[in-house]
Amino acid sequence: MNAAGKIIGAGRALGGRVVTNKDLEKVLDTTEDWISTRTGILERRFVTEDEDCVSLAIEASKRAIEHADVPADSIDLIVCATSTNPESMPSVACLVGEAIGVTGVGAMDLGAACAGYAYAASVADSMLKSGAANRVLLIGADAMTHIVDENDRSTSILFGDGAGAVILDKGDGESGFVDHILGADGSMAPLGRAGHPGDDQKLFQNGREIFKFAVKMFPQMVEKIAARNDVSLDDVQYVIPHQANARIIQAAGRKLDIPEERVVVNVDHFGNTSAASIPLSYPDIFDDFEPGKYIITVGFGFGLTWAANLYKI
Ligand SMILES: CC(C)(COP(=O)(O)OP(=O)(O)OC[C@H]1O[C@@H](n2cnc3c(N)ncnc32)[C@H](O)[C@@H]1OP(=O)(O)O)[C@@H](O)C(=O)NCCC(=O)NCCS
Repeated sequence: MNAAGKIIGAGRALGGRVVTNKDLEKVLDTTEDWISTRTGILERRFVTEDEDCVSLAIEASKRAIEHADVPADSIDLIVCATSTNPESMPSVACLVGEAIGVTGVGAMDLGAACAGYAYAASVADSMLKSGAANRVLLIGADAMTHIVDENDRSTSILFGDGAGAVILDKGDGESGFVDHILGADGSMAPLGRAGHPGDDQKLFQNGREIFKFAVKMFPQMVEKIAARNDVSLDDVQYVIPHQANARIIQAAGRKLDIPEERVVVNVDHFGNTSAASIPLSYPDIFDDFEPGKYIITVGFGFGLTWAANLYKI
């Protein structure tokens, strides 16, 4: 197996305002019970007035660098998955580089909606495998409150703001990303659209159709990436799915017959943080990684886009 993209440190940052279902009950035609029963979300974190996607990405990156305990200037590529950069230009990755004191190296954003991190991981890993980079700062960051209509009860209850960052090294060939599957189908674009932060066009989705798509796609992708690498699901320590709805995650876990404790869930406390939802789970599990086992990350998002990554610990 040709593994690269080894995670040597992870950090996260979350919006500064905790918003519970009870809080939303006061401002929307909804109930605490409806939200928790239909989505599994108990609370989410919204950015404060001083925060945005960029500030979250910077904070998460600083923490990942500290955790990895490497000099920031040893990073020679920055890749940020996001759909909520407050400005079209410059990229979030450029601004993160400036903030952490890393300039003169490649920095780019990648947009694949909620599948952004899984897509960006494949790009970062490929750059490491090709020799174009030696140490990558890989970020998933989104401030979804900037593109969601706060008065739309069918969407504003779902999303939260956060960022997750990891430092990826070339590794020794034994541990790191092993394989990636990417997919997209623009014919399903009408199922979910959103404008840029500040636009009048707020996020719209056909929740029911996306739900059905995700419940089918998650297990298929996990099975496919495991099978084509001859990896048994018994050797998968964690499946980290995109966190859109706990019911989607539970249905996929049941279909795959993977014990609950091996399927990572953070949607209950963070809501759907889009490109951040997968990487912001790493700090919770990093210390428990069992060498020799595998992690499968799997995302889906507007586009529609989908992607899965196989990682050997
Ligand atoms: C959005 C979602 C939670 C809705 O749950 P659902 O069980 O499918 O609910 P429905 O959309 O069928 O709506 C059922 C009813 O609840 C109502 N409803 C919607 N939001 C509500 C809320 N916050 N509070 C109370 N009622 C609500 C609807 O208006 C509808 O009422 P009706 O039956 O009178 O028309 C669910 O479809 C979902 O999570 N989809 C996936 C979305 C997703 O993953 N998006 C991100 C892509 S990365």
